[in-house]
Amino acid sequence: MNQVDLIHKKRDGGELTENELAFLISGYVAGDIPDYQISAFLMAVYFQGMTSRETATLTALMRDSGVVLDHSHIPGFKADKHSTGGVGDKVSLILAPLVAAAGVYVPMISGRALAHTGGTLDKLEAIPGFRTNLSLEEIARQLPEVGAVLVGQTADLTPADKKIYALRDATATVNSIPLITASILSKKMAEGIDALVLDVKAGSGAIFNEKEKAWELARMLVNTAAHFGLRTSAIVTAMDQPLGNAIGNWLETKEAIDTLRGTGPKDLLELTLVLSAQMLVLAGKAGSVSEGCAILEEKISSGQAFDKFLELVKWHEGDVSVVQNPDIYPQPKHSLAIKSETDGYVAKVDSREIGIVSMALGAGRSSVEAEIDYTAGICLKRKICDSVKTGDTLAMAYSNHTELLHANATRLQAAFKIEIEKPTTPGLIYGVINSAGEKHWNAEKRDFV
Ligand code: URA
Repeated sequence: MNQVDLIHKKRDGGELTENELAFLISGYVAGDIPDYQISAFLMAVYFQGMTSRETATLTALMRDSGVVLDHSHIPGFKADKHSTGGVGDKVSLILAPLVAAAGVYVPMISGRALAHTGGTLDKLEAIPGFRTNLSLEEIARQLPEVGAVLVGQTADLTPADKKIYALRDATATVNSIPLITASILSKKMAEGIDALVLDVKAGSGAIFNEKEKAWELARMLVNTAAHFGLRTSAIVTAMDQPLGNAIGNWLETKEAIDTLRGTGPKDLLELTLVLSAQMLVLAGKAGSVSEGCAILEEKISSGQAFDKFLELVKWHEGDVSVVQNPDIYPQPKHSLAIKSETDGYVAKVDSREIGIVSMALGAGRSSVEAEIDYTAGICLKRKICDSVKTGDTLAMAYSNHTELLHANATRLQAAFKIEIEKPTTPGLIYGVINSAGEKHWNAEKRDFV
């Protein structure tokens, strides 16, 4: 077999066999096939797509490129949530302890900041001492004791995805539905879970701006997961403005702590509750999303969810004192208020632009090795539909480098669009797709109908 022939076949719209895909993936992981040939293959997939059979085969090959965790000795249901990526999305930090407090095990493998979106691992590592690089033995010890683990992809877990994702990021081949499907599902299936909830985002800060594309991705994810017998629900949600108010690692961790204590922003709390409730439904611990939300609200109001987060931080060797008292955390040296230059209503808060500015302030990496400024970021003071007067603060920007604040101020201001007319209320949750079909969100019933 020859890789050039396989690239040729895919470029011309052919369907690759299991043996052919295995040749490419194992050859790449072993270092026998160079980056430039896999880049060409990825671009061919980007333009030609993959059949359902190819997508499932690629998913299995990527999953089996490393260890597949087996938690079957732990009695109880194991589930996880994965988001396709957004701005201000700190849901995982709240969801893992919340769902664990409700009796479902959450063995969560997360990623780092990528392009304009933040990463759960970086947000957790904003807590001094917090270790996300647990060994397989440590994961096996912690999960039954605490009910959750929050770790990164290691050399043992889906190394094919680790390598291919980095290459996709550098070759403009991220936005391919079969490649996204294989990437997400290979990682999640390697966690050894019984069920999966996917948050598939649509909007300016998401992989796909168009809602229809997000639904298409959701369908492909659910159908491919079904091929492996993994119970999966994909919830399609809005990313037209950042989730919550905080963007940037420590700012987001602090907002997650506030939410676990019952004082977080409404949109962040509601989306977290719905995704978590869907996990309880799949686990058979709630009959409906609305019932699941009620169970989880009690876990927050009773303090059990926050206590579970403290326990998790302790097990990951993080400094619990900053979680108990976030005010003692080091403050960024500089801040800048971004003010409105006109009266009206906020009609748009461009998530992608806000994400890019937050990264430029120091919250992201310009290269894989770059250091993160954990305190850098943005705090939104106004969101879509809020009224503003000239001179009102739209957002606060934070950085340890004053020149970065001034260099990005105009761009941050331009991310807000102010109009005279009040816009329609933005969506938060659109609908769900799973083995029962597609349903739409009904906010009044707090359920999918
Ligand atoms: N998240 C992933 O893990 N992989 C993708 O390809 C896209 C989003």
